[in-house]
Amino acid sequence: MGSAVGLGNIWRFAYVAGESGGGTFLLLYILCIIAIGIPILMAELTIGRRAKSDVVGSFETLAPGTPWFVTGFLGVASAFIILSFYGVVAGWALHYFIQYVLGGPAISGEGGSESYFIEFHTSTYSPLFWQSIFMILTIGIVYVGVKKGIEKSNKILMPLLAILVILLAGYSLTLGGAQEALSFLFSPDWRSLRDPNVYLAALGQAFFSLSLGMGALITYGSYLSSKDKLPGAAVSVVTLDTLFAILAGLMIFPAVFAFGNAPNSGPGLVFITLPDIFNSLSLGVVFGTLFFFLLSAAAISSGVSLLEVAVAYFMRKFNWSRKKAAIIIGGIIFLIGIPSSLGYGALNHVTLIGDRDILDSMDFIASNIFLPLGGLLIALFVGVGWNKAEAIEASDFGNTWIGHTWILILRTIAPVAILIIFLSSIGLF
Ligand code: TRP
Repeated sequence: MGSAVGLGNIWRFAYVAGESGGGTFLLLYILCIIAIGIPILMAELTIGRRAKSDVVGSFETLAPGTPWFVTGFLGVASAFIILSFYGVVAGWALHYFIQYVLGGPAISGEGGSESYFIEFHTSTYSPLFWQSIFMILTIGIVYVGVKKGIEKSNKILMPLLAILVILLAGYSLTLGGAQEALSFLFSPDWRSLRDPNVYLAALGQAFFSLSLGMGALITYGSYLSSKDKLPGAAVSVVTLDTLFAILAGLMIFPAVFAFGNAPNSGPGLVFITLPDIFNSLSLGVVFGTLFFFLLSAAAISSGVSLLEVAVAYFMRKFNWSRKKAAIIIGGIIFLIGIPSSLGYGALNHVTLIGDRDILDSMDFIASNIFLPLGGLLIALFVGVGWNKAEAIEASDFGNTWIGHTWILILRTIAPVAILIIFLSSIGLF
């Protein structure tokens, strides 16, 4: 849950839903979660707990002498890319938290929250400073070990974030934009069902939000014991993660419409809209402080799972200590993330994929290509590459119709759907 719930549910869900037209996207996103997400999430946990190793090692253990371990390398690469830009956005969240604590210009409302956000995130040093603070906190937790580091605080902070998002959604719905927001989010525009890019966006968001396709849950699965029941864990993670996203939508979009912001304004959407909400509330500073604190905490617990994937691999492969791996890998990932941050300021003329800026391009490569591809391979590994009876047994489904349906989905619907969405988005299908 700590891995799944993070910036993906609030920041990324809001801006991708906003850019992809709302309702149709939400519908496809939920379909992807049910038909592809849940089965692959189960597959990852099952692989990890049975093999008791990192992403690469798990495939080497379960299928020695075969090329399946390549899936693990794809996962380690994804961890580097995702955490590199995740750190930038998490840095923005930390910056807003401290702004609310100190009563800085972000919350005065003078000049508007949009112009503040633009000024802040296009500057050179301040975002890099906050990104480095986020990386230091994340490295610190991985350094002492995930379990010691966050398990307890997560159990308190996560429910608090949920309560806050529910309260803010309730308030946001009273601001006058409710009707427009509800129809934007919940009434699909059937014409956009013909746009393959909406499918790819929904698939990418499903993978990103559930932390799927790069072995984060293989790595976490390897820390579980046979006492933990995987299907129950999978269902609660998926349900809560999805509820979080929908609630975040109900918090953000009514305010977007009420304050006349554009739903498709991109990665800055929540950083512009939320301060507007807090400015309009009498206890806004308190809510703002709490919200950005809890959002930062959720981002850290997700960042930890990304770093842990790479750290677990380097620890085993090169016999590094946890401390050494956390510092070296975390440091490298920070450096890789610098261009994503500068892409809004000093490097704002650079576009990599289509007209996407650097951060958006990194996100596209990782979330819309690497994660689905990794998911495809993981599905095929459990569905086809592994012994069926052993997989079903290792999953805790046991020899039931659910277990057999799970394998069937991993053999058919999940890989076929991922392939079709892929091929159609590059115009081949
Ligand atoms: N799911 C997290 C979020 O919603 C981000 C994340 C953590 C992630 N670990 C991951 C995304 C692994 C993809 C893969 O913020």
